Amino acid sequence: MCGIIGYIGSGNACNIVVSGLHRLEYRGYDSAGLALCAPENNKILSLKAEGKIAALEEEIARNLPDSLSDSYSLGIGHTRWATHGAPNLTNAHPHLSNDGQFAIVHNGIIENYSALKNKLTRKGYTFESETDSEVIVHLIAECYEDDLRRAVAAAIEQLDGTFGIAVVSSKHPDTIIAARKGSPICVGVCDNGTIIASDVSAIVNHTNKVIFLDDGDILTASATNIDITNFKSIPVTRELTHIDWDVGEIEKGGYEHFMLKEMFEQPHALANVTRGRLLIDDGNTKLSGMQMDPYEMSRIASMVLAACGTSMYAGMVGKYYFEDLASLPSDIQQAAEFRYRNPIIQRDTCMIAISQSGETADTLAAVREAQQKGATVMGICNVVGSTIAREVGRGVYLHAGPEIGVASTKAFTCQVTVLAMMAILFGRARRLSLQAGRELVGELSRLPELAEAVLAQSDNILKIAEKYAQMENFFYIGRGYMFPAAMEGALKLKEISYIHAEGYHAAELKHGPIALLEENVPIVACVPEFSGKIKTIGNMQECRARKSPVIAIATEGDKEIDEVCDDIIRIPKCNELFAPIPVVIAEQLFAYHIAKLRGCSIDQPRNLAKSVTVE
Ligand code: AGP
Ligand code: GLU
Repeated sequence: MCGIIGYIGSGNACNIVVSGLHRLEYRGYDSAGLALCAPENNKILSLKAEGKIAALEEEIARNLPDSLSDSYSLGIGHTRWATHGAPNLTNAHPHLSNDGQFAIVHNGIIENYSALKNKLTRKGYTFESETDSEVIVHLIAECYEDDLRRAVAAAIEQLDGTFGIAVVSSKHPDTIIAARKGSPICVGVCDNGTIIASDVSAIVNHTNKVIFLDDGDILTASATNIDITNFKSIPVTRELTHIDWDVGEIEKGGYEHFMLKEMFEQPHALANVTRGRLLIDDGNTKLSGMQMDPYEMSRIASMVLAACGTSMYAGMVGKYYFEDLASLPSDIQQAAEFRYRNPIIQRDTCMIAISQSGETADTLAAVREAQQKGATVMGICNVVGSTIAREVGRGVYLHAGPEIGVASTKAFTCQVTVLAMMAILFGRARRLSLQAGRELVGELSRLPELAEAVLAQSDNILKIAEKYAQMENFFYIGRGYMFPAAMEGALKLKEISYIHAEGYHAAELKHGPIALLEENVPIVACVPEFSGKIKTIGNMQECRARKSPVIAIATEGDKEIDEVCDDIIRIPKCNELFAPIPVVIAEQLFAYHIAKLRGCSIDQPRNLAKSVTVE
C-alpha cells in the first residue's frame, strides 16, 4: 500500500525523496516522513508529519536550511496507509533504532509483530510507536555486527507477513538495503545515482530502465551499483524492464484532476488496447501474450475470473462474454474469498486474474491458489512488470497508460475490452461463427468513437449532477450486461463523493431495498437499447411509483425512455455486449461532477489506496 522511495547519489537526496513522495501521493496515504544520511555525519536526520506531504515539506523547511539540504546524499521516504496504530506523527515512518543509527520504512503487515515486540522489549528495546513495522528496525539493530545486508537478512528471516522495506544506517552512508516479500520494490540506476521505489511512477522521471525485485529478494544499492541476493544471501539476477511511459503521462496535463484526465484519455486508451489485436477479416482477435493456441483453447472447460473492486465488475462483464461468445461455464470470484474457500479447480480450468495495478494482495493470493491447484492462470494487468503480471507469465496488458486517480476509470473500460477480445478468441476456437466474429470485432473498433461521444456530454451530465449533488443515498440498477455497469456506477459514486450508493440488479430491488425508496433517494437506471430494456423500464416505474427520481442512461433517440424518467444521459447506439463501456463512462462523469460539486478530494479519496497490497 502507500509508498516507499529511496535515493543514493550525487544529487540532493532530500529534494529527490520529496519529489518521489509526491509521485506516490496518488496511492493514498495519511502521513509521510523521510530519513537522510550524509557521508561526513554519523547521524540520521528523520523528519515526519501527519497528513499531507505539504506538512512534511513545512517540517523540512523548519529543520533543514537550504544550505544544509544539499549535504545529504542518501535518503529514504514513506507515505503511510495505517494498518496498525492510528495515522499520527509517532506512527508515521521512518522508524529509528534506539541508538538512532538505523532507519527503516515499511509497506505491508508484520503478522507476528506482537511476539517479536515482547521478545525485543524483554531484551531492553523500547518502542515508540504502535505500528507493527517498528519491530523491524529493532531486529536489524539486534542482528547487526558489521554488515548491514546481513543484519537485514537475519532480521527478515524472523518476520511473518508481508513487507517491502528500505533500510539505511549512519554506519553505512553509502548504502540502501531494500527487501520484498509481498509488497513491490523496484530500482533504477540513473546518471546521478540509484533510486528505489515501491512503484515505477516515482522512478520514470529519472530512468525508464527498471528492475523489479521478486519476492524473497534483498537489494544492496550504492550510488553506482546494485546487487541482488535472495534471503539466503545467494546472488540472483533480475531482468531489466523498459517502461514505455513518459513523465507527461504521470502529470495532469492541464486537467483539474487525474481522474478527469484519465476519463478523457479513454478514446485513446481504447484505441491502444485494441491496436494490432483486431483481425476484422478473420472475425477474430490476436492476443499473443496469452500464449495459447486454438487447440489449447478448445480444451479449456471452464473459466474462473478473479479480481477485486472495479476490476471485479469488469470481470462480471467478462463472465457474460465467456458464456455468450465462447459457451464456457464461467464464474466471477471475489479474489479475497477464493483461497479461503475450497474452490473447484480442475486441470482444464482457466483462471483470469484481473488487476489494474497487478499488485492487489487478494488477487495475487487467488492466483497462487489457482496455480497450486493446477489451473492455467492468465493475467489482465495494466502495470507492466507488476507482480501478478510476472507471476502468471502470460495474459494481456491493457496499455492504458498509468492510472493515477484512485478511482479506476480507463482501466475498467480497457479491461472489459480485453475480456471481449479474449472471449472472441476462445469463441472462434469453439463455436463462434466467422460472421458473428466479424460483427463483434467491427464493433470493438468503434469503441474509441463511442467513448468520445459520451465524453462530449460532460456538460449535460454536470447539469444533471447539480440537481442531485446534495442527495445522500442512491441506487443504481441494471439487468444482464447492465447489472455490472450498475455495480460499478455505484462504486464510483461512493468512492469519490462519499454518498451512500448501492448497485442492484433491477429485479432484486423489490425483494427488499424498495423499502428505502422515497423522493430523496434517486435511482440511476442503466437502460440502453438491449434485451433487458422493457423489464428494466418496468422496474423504473416501480421506483417512480415510490416517488424516487429516476436518472436514465439510455440510447440516443430512444423516445420510450423519456416517459419513465426525470433526467436522461444519452449514450450512442451500440451492440448491447459493449454497452457497459459507454454506460460506465457516463457514470464516471456523473460521479466526478457530483464529487466536485461536494468539494471532495477526487484523486485521493479518504481512506482509499490505489493499490491494496494488504489482505
Ligand atoms: C476502483 O475505483 C477502486 N479504487 C478499487 O475497487 C480497485 O478497482 C481494486 O482495489 C482493485 O485494484 P486492481 O485493479 O489494481 O487490482
Ligand atoms: N503496517 C505498517 C503501519 O501500519 C505499514 C503500513 C503501510 O503499508 O503503509 O505502519
